[in-house]
Amino acid sequence: MTAQPGLKLVKRDASGVDLAFRADVLAGLAEAQKAIPARWFYDDAGSALFEDITQLPEYYPTRAETEILQTRAAEIAGLIGPRRAVVEFGSGSSVKTPLLLSAIEPSAYVPLDIAGDFLRASSAALAAKFPGLPVLPVEADFMRRVELPADVAHLPKLGFFPGSTIGNMIARTATDLLRSMKDTLGDGALLLIGLDLVKDEEVLLGAYDDASGVTAQFNLNLLARINRELGGDVPIASFAHEARWNDPFARIEMHLVARESVSFTVSGQRFSMGAGESIHTENSHKFTKRSAQLLLAAGGWEPIARWTDEARQFSLVLAESGATRSAP
Ligand code: AVJ
Repeated sequence: MTAQPGLKLVKRDASGVDLAFRADVLAGLAEAQKAIPARWFYDDAGSALFEDITQLPEYYPTRAETEILQTRAAEIAGLIGPRRAVVEFGSGSSVKTPLLLSAIEPSAYVPLDIAGDFLRASSAALAAKFPGLPVLPVEADFMRRVELPADVAHLPKLGFFPGSTIGNMIARTATDLLRSMKDTLGDGALLLIGLDLVKDEEVLLGAYDDASGVTAQFNLNLLARINRELGGDVPIASFAHEARWNDPFARIEMHLVARESVSFTVSGQRFSMGAGESIHTENSHKFTKRSAQLLLAAGGWEPIARWTDEARQFSLVLAESGATRSAP
């Protein structure tokens, strides 16, 4: 789908309720282990809180990935080469995207995002920084194949997916996304993807449960969003933020734990939770060199280079679209 002003991908009912949000929340609260997909964190307040998280002393991923882009720019650019269309999965960060674009001399920049307002704002800011670079935002759900603008059809593509956002997905979903990216980007594509690394449990827990409580606010904001947008009466003060390390799955999980037994209504439906019961709100998978390689291969991508920051906390992998084979 190409970007058109006024085109709305978000389906709402007559009173303006985001139908996918309501469906996900009602289905997730009906599960034995209550769970709500992490994508719903990012309303305006949640997006601002995430920006605050990236500045926290405990939250190393953003700084580590930025360090890699800064210190390895020449090497990265040498392997990617000039004149590609950079297709970013997400609206782009104000720091990382300019670092990449100034390193590689691209022919176009195509950010993909389902949140049109955010996309237009960040595209305008980017275009102002790179006069002469065609910036062609596309409002689309990149979990499925996206039709890119005709202007970039003839250009080789570089997919850019920083931030270890892939880590928010379970393996099945991550694999589907990597395959969709292959379809979107076409023959001869490269992918530059950030993957956070397995490390000391204390460091990981600190990054997702910071001393100043910003991550707690970010997690609890989901309840405020439910109350505001879905006519809920969830007693927010009765919930506590918790970050857990799930070792078998190598992931940080965020939960909202009921401090006491609670009952509440969302969209006219009644829910109850016992003390200590939780709503699972996020997975953030952590990778090793091998597990990253395995995931990328399952999604049809072959790593050709890998960089880490000096402290080896985070990795950036350059991969090429592999041939589709059904045999080993
Ligand atoms: C969306 C992948 C960048 O999982 O680290 C930060 C979101 N959640 N703190 C992550 C997040 C809690 C973040 N990313």
